[in-house]
Amino acid sequence: MSATVIDGKAFAAKVRGQVATHVTALKQDHGITPGLAVVLVGEDPASQVYVRSKGKMTVEVGMKSVEHKLDADTSEADLLALIQKLNDDAEIHGILVQLPLPDHLDEDLVINSIDPAKDVDGFHISNVGLLGTGQDSMVPCTPLGCLMMLRDHHGSLSGMDAVVIGRSNIVGKPMAQLLLGDSCTVTIAHSRTKDLAEVVRRADIVVAAVGRPQMVPGDWIKPGATVIDVGINRIDKPEGGTRLVGDVDYESCAAVAGAITPVPGGVGPMTIACLLANTVTACCRANGLPAPEGLTA
Ligand code: GUN
Repeated sequence: MSATVIDGKAFAAKVRGQVATHVTALKQDHGITPGLAVVLVGEDPASQVYVRSKGKMTVEVGMKSVEHKLDADTSEADLLALIQKLNDDAEIHGILVQLPLPDHLDEDLVINSIDPAKDVDGFHISNVGLLGTGQDSMVPCTPLGCLMMLRDHHGSLSGMDAVVIGRSNIVGKPMAQLLLGDSCTVTIAHSRTKDLAEVVRRADIVVAAVGRPQMVPGDWIKPGATVIDVGINRIDKPEGGTRLVGDVDYESCAAVAGAITPVPGGVGPMTIACLLANTVTACCRANGLPAPEGLTA
């Protein structure tokens, strides 16, 4: 068997197109322009690349983009004051504080100071609780992107066995909640899981989010299963230079799976597309309008 390759790049472009359509309607019918504020503290090169990319795509879908770049030694009080200002700004519907933060800043405190209604990352403790109890919430972007791809590929996920490898707050735990919400039987596996290979072999859906290059081999995959690879790891090539690989061994898994996301070009592009989708959702809710169909969990 050779797996269907789920093209996250194309799917993300489609989602951004849907977002742009909603943005146009919000402007024309209601005179509202959704606004996203991104806060970057310090000069981490990877974070700078992400923030630039987020800003560019925000503008491309017709939304207002605001970037706040703060020095690495910015005090917690100054950062919290900025967040308060953005919470109070009616033209800002989404706020994202790029992580990781410098060590002297308390990440939980900072995230939980964002108005939950503007928390487009879905990291605020209120949104975590709302998601866990099946209520409308802001949903973390990467798991939301994975869910959209799974729904698009399978239609209904009801009754499927899903294994999420990784228990992070950003991906593993919310991913499990979303799959549960779609009536999957969900297992969260992690570094202490016994017989990981056997656990993964039961799965109709495998979501790998551990940050360990190529750790899932093809002989762990049930024939025909769907493999969603969240990992983005840079490894050395034998001939010199580097390349990006996921958390699954792509070649051997693709030989067994029914469908698989590649790295790069799978889950990665969906994350920013879902950030834009979340910003439109936040804007609609803030204005008493229904959240756009198909762009929420
Ligand atoms: N750093 C890496 N990924 C993310 C993300 O999804 N959100 C935020 N806020 N920071 C990140």
